[in-house]
Amino acid sequence: MENDLKPEITKPGGVVYTIYKYASLDSTNEFLRQHCTTLADYSVIWADEQTHGHGRFTRVWNSVPGQDLTFSILLPLTSLEHKLRQNITQIAALSVAQLLEVYGLKPAVKWPNDVLVQGKKISGILCEVVESNKNVYGILGIGLNVNSMEESLAVVGIPATSLRCELHQKVIRLELLKKLLEIIINCFNVLCQSGFTQNRLELKKRLAFINEQIVFTDIKRESYSGRIIDLNEDGTLLFECEKRGIISLNSGEIAFNNLYLKRDYQ
Ligand code: BTN
Repeated sequence: MENDLKPEITKPGGVVYTIYKYASLDSTNEFLRQHCTTLADYSVIWADEQTHGHGRFTRVWNSVPGQDLTFSILLPLTSLEHKLRQNITQIAALSVAQLLEVYGLKPAVKWPNDVLVQGKKISGILCEVVESNKNVYGILGIGLNVNSMEESLAVVGIPATSLRCELHQKVIRLELLKKLLEIIINCFNVLCQSGFTQNRLELKKRLAFINEQIVFTDIKRESYSGRIIDLNEDGTLLFECEKRGIISLNSGEIAFNNLYLKRDYQ
């Protein structure tokens, strides 16, 4: 398949990444999964359109062709401590939040993989780990609503927004992508060199619903009411569950529910 862009950029940290842009792919995560053993570390696959973009729990990821950002980056995980793999989604969410702050927005991270602005979803993250020939690859896929308008966001089924809706102006996607890649690679380097501590502190500052009453849905799709107490040192969520007492959550997600849809974000 042809790609129409191939800038190669060397960053001060010494990391070289290459962006491959495609008009249409089924899913950038699937593309990287198929090519991870032949592509260089930090290869970035960006598709203007995904025909089978997906998220966690086999959800569909919709974005407007040519308007938003849907891409995946190949991260080298072979020498990363095993327990830190679960933090990659979180550093990606942190990176998206930090990027949005550059644009003057006040994002919050809905643990573990969504980024919200004004309580509406602007970005979703799907990190998958692939092992092959003693190498371990992280396939970090990010969907970010950039220039899509209210009408297309209305069909998503949950409250959603885009940079354009928030800023009332169009944003150049390539510039945005480069800024985001720089932040992700820096956060990833910090994770590799010194663990999750520093990223955790930054993430905690931006964590949505801390100390609030929420509904949590586990991977079996069972729901629990309770209160988020803290982000644990390993990135799991400390949760005071009405049914089960104080527990740590390492999978599942905070539900999009009426509790906070009714909130006033003005
Ligand atoms: C979620 O909200 O559950 C995660 C959504 C992740 C979507 C991105 S878009 C780029 C990459 N390719 C995919 O098929 N999924 C991810």
